[in-house]
Amino acid sequence: MTRLCTLLDAEAVAERAAREITQHLERAREERGVAHLALSGGSTPERTHELLAKTVKDWQGIEVWFADERCVGPEHPESNYLMVHKTLLEHISVPPPRVHRMEGELGPEAGAERYAQALREHVAPGEVSAPASDAGRGPEIGRGPELPILDVVVLGIGPDGHVASLFPGAPTLDAGAEAVCLGVHNSPKPPPERITLSMAVLRAARHVLLPATGAGKRDAIQGALGEATHQVPASLLRRERLTIVINDEASPPASSATRQNADCKNL
Ligand code: 6PG
Repeated sequence: MTRLCTLLDAEAVAERAAREITQHLERAREERGVAHLALSGGSTPERTHELLAKTVKDWQGIEVWFADERCVGPEHPESNYLMVHKTLLEHISVPPPRVHRMEGELGPEAGAERYAQALREHVAPGEVSAPASDAGRGPEIGRGPELPILDVVVLGIGPDGHVASLFPGAPTLDAGAEAVCLGVHNSPKPPPERITLSMAVLRAARHVLLPATGAGKRDAIQGALGEATHQVPASLLRRERLTIVINDEASPPASSATRQNADCKNL
């Protein structure tokens, strides 16, 4: 069941997302001594990143990763690293978190391979079994290869339902259950060349937070909650590990749901 929280406005969405991310990070650190957080690019996650600099009081033991990156250098205006640095990293007091930058300047394949190595080296693996209810929604992850298990992944969503740099109908969605990080060419969202975490790694993460605002995302959110299809990559995420935080404008038509509390419900 996906948890869908509908709030009044974009600021409330960012506040709720930052609070939930903080809670998951602190719990992960308590349980395992380390918390691995992956962040996305795009405009929607920016405010959440800014608020995270305030809600996380102590970054000791938290490691920052990236869900995707454009194949540009870290100083390039299109760089997700640059955006995360401006919205979060430069506002964090010492000790700074350990930051693992995706080296977009290496290009799609070389950059993806380097990042996969870093994830395998620094993030504890685990065998991820998809519950029966989740069958068919993504790479069948059972007693297959071990994957790095991130604690929290923050995803934006495109109007077409893409997440990270996994786009509708893209060959990256056919990558096997052992795929960790992938090169992207011909991205429909510029720039064309990117690096992205695989859907298998996104599905293996313990928690996925997906903030979305504005009427332009309504259809994508509807698709994310609907049948699993490669035409809406967000629909392939693990439902029981996904929290979608939206404002009223991005809210799909009323759906049957069990109301969990004032603004969140399980779908
Ligand atoms: C990227 C992002 C991408 C983004 C969505 C939403 O590198 O472009 O990772 O997945 O999060 O496209 O972007 P907006 O919030 O700007 O609509």
